[in-house]
Amino acid sequence: MTDHEAFATRNDLMLRASGIEKTFTLHQQGGARIHALAGISLDVERGECVVLAGASGAGKSTLLRCMYGNYLATRGTIAVRDDSRAERHVSLTEAAPHEIIRLRTTTLGYVSQFLRVIPRVSSLDLVAEPLITRGVNEDDARERASALLERLNVPRRLWTLAPATFSGGEQQRVSIARGLIAEHPVLLLDEPTASLDAHNRDVVADLIAEARERGAAIVGIFHDEDTRERVATRIVRLASPSPMSTTDTNEAGALQSC
Ligand SMILES: Nc1ncnc2c1ncn2[C@@H]1O[C@H](COP(=O)(O)OP(=O)(O)OP(=O)(O)O)[C@@H](O)[C@H]1O
Ligand SMILES: [Mg+2]
Repeated sequence: MTDHEAFATRNDLMLRASGIEKTFTLHQQGGARIHALAGISLDVERGECVVLAGASGAGKSTLLRCMYGNYLATRGTIAVRDDSRAERHVSLTEAAPHEIIRLRTTTLGYVSQFLRVIPRVSSLDLVAEPLITRGVNEDDARERASALLERLNVPRRLWTLAPATFSGGEQQRVSIARGLIAEHPVLLLDEPTASLDAHNRDVVADLIAEARERGAAIVGIFHDEDTRERVATRIVRLASPSPMSTTDTNEAGALQSC
């Protein structure tokens, strides 16, 4: 079924990856090539939480970054639902950078293991910002940000401070709040609970369950077995492709990013 037919006939389909390959070429290191993904196909529907499993280096984070438009796949396509278009989807692998930025505002949310700290911006403002970008007024956005920080047990005394000096777990909770606040229809979560204690991992598992209940389609990586069992509706295991080749002559795999 073509992407066009799939998005037109399957109302719950939110994201479709087809035949994704990703090869990195390390130009600074003699052109060494790393095959990170070898032909991954995956459909993700509303209300699902697909957990990516597989050994370290299997390509889990690379696949998430391709789905967020950070890396351009060497081969294959990634399509994301966009009901504002007649064809009901956008091809992320063909989209112009401004289109990818628009999709990140309207549709794609991403939480990485590490918070990208913006100097001098308070944690409350960092969390409120995605809502303000979407047109919510500042007071309402801050109120919702406060509620989420409270729920994630980020101490109130930290809300007015920039997170640069926060502990790993505190930064991670700010990062989760920032990633979840705008209730994006598609959420990509790369080890969002890696630095959290058991109680806060439970809070995140509850937030993920609530996101699914409102119809979010989620793809996540969770190394913690308990959290994985709790949140996954499906587990997709990535096998490591052949790790490296320096003799491959196909040049299509140069490192590309948007
Ligand atoms: N920007 C990059 N440039 C070159 N190689 C990269 C890049 N990003 C990832 N890789 C390589 O791609 C492979 C897959 O990496 P990736 O980070 O996706 O693995 P992972 O499954 O997320 O592992 P982990 O569980 O340790 O986080 C690795 O061999 C890694 O070295
Ligand atoms: Mg990873």
